Amino acid sequence: MQPREHWSTRLSFVMAAVGSAVGLGNLWRFPATCAANGGGAFLLPYFIALASVGIPLLILEFSLGHRMQHAAPAAIERIRPTFSWVGWWAVLMGFIIVSFYTVVMAWCLEYVVYSFFPEALELWRTDAAGFFEDKVLTIDKELQGGAGEMVWPLVGCLAICWGIIFLLIFKGVKQVGKVVLVTVPLPIVLVVVLFIRGITLPNALEGLQTYLQPDFELLKEPSVWLAAYGQIFFTLSLGFGVMVAYASYLDRETDITNNAFLTGLINCGFSFFTGFAVFSVLGFLATIPGNEKALEQAGGGLAFIAYPTALARLPGAHVFSVLFFITLLTLGIDSAFSIVEAITASLMEKFNLSRYLAL
Ligand code: PHE
Repeated sequence: MQPREHWSTRLSFVMAAVGSAVGLGNLWRFPATCAANGGGAFLLPYFIALASVGIPLLILEFSLGHRMQHAAPAAIERIRPTFSWVGWWAVLMGFIIVSFYTVVMAWCLEYVVYSFFPEALELWRTDAAGFFEDKVLTIDKELQGGAGEMVWPLVGCLAICWGIIFLLIFKGVKQVGKVVLVTVPLPIVLVVVLFIRGITLPNALEGLQTYLQPDFELLKEPSVWLAAYGQIFFTLSLGFGVMVAYASYLDRETDITNNAFLTGLINCGFSFFTGFAVFSVLGFLATIPGNEKALEQAGGGLAFIAYPTALARLPGAHVFSVLFFITLLTLGIDSAFSIVEAITASLMEKFNLSRYLAL
């Protein structure tokens, strides 16, 4: 058994936990969920969910890892051996999430490259949805259900994303602690830039109104509460064994409760903030003929359809497009590798593997 690795400082741990929490879910999922579930009124169930489940479960996961000094399966096994499958279940869920999360990151990488090509920006301006379906996904319209051909540029981007994940974590948590000092603040700074650009655009206020106009009637709907609790689990990476694994590398001396509050509040505060960057731009988009419905349709197509359409209209379109997709990539990367770390740590402990082999 190798001696357990440890974070170099408490800051590295908090940054890594924030890095896992702050991800695509903040920029892509939160603002759209908020707007669709009562706007400003959604903040009420959201922060209730944070206080009643988010922070308490963060404290629980941190404590479990910290106390047992093991990742989820082995940590739970030490409490009750018959329940170690709960830990493996969490790890399996993480595996499923990271499988599609990295694909979304691969799309982002492809969009970063496309941002340098004027022809691509021209297409975003006129038919961003068509561009996404035909150029990026290359959806075969004839195909119903079955597998299509390999989309090689995307496979290449996916391989690059996995390669980067591997490089960033294969040396262990000390290295992760350094990496997050860049991958956490960078997207935050970039979102601030997008926010400033967004709120200075015409019709930004209209967009913010869609984001935050409260509809308290909707609070009677159970689905709104479900959306709030669901968002809290996803955004705080709860129930995936990630926070247990990260906390298992903590030194004995630390302040779990404080760490949990910091992680929860920074993450949820940032989610709220990204909504301003997103909806101000959508408000601007709604002024462009042909896009009048942009605000009503803010949903799944937000990052790859609505936002690129708007960015392509701005002066300095190339720069803002690159900035936006790099923001998404850097948001995603530390969430993705936190899941891979949870899986790796679980396998290392179960089969007594080296980190390199487990990866
Ligand atoms: N919390 C991440 C986000 O908001 C996603 C994630 C889910 C990360 C599960 C790790 C585990 O994007």
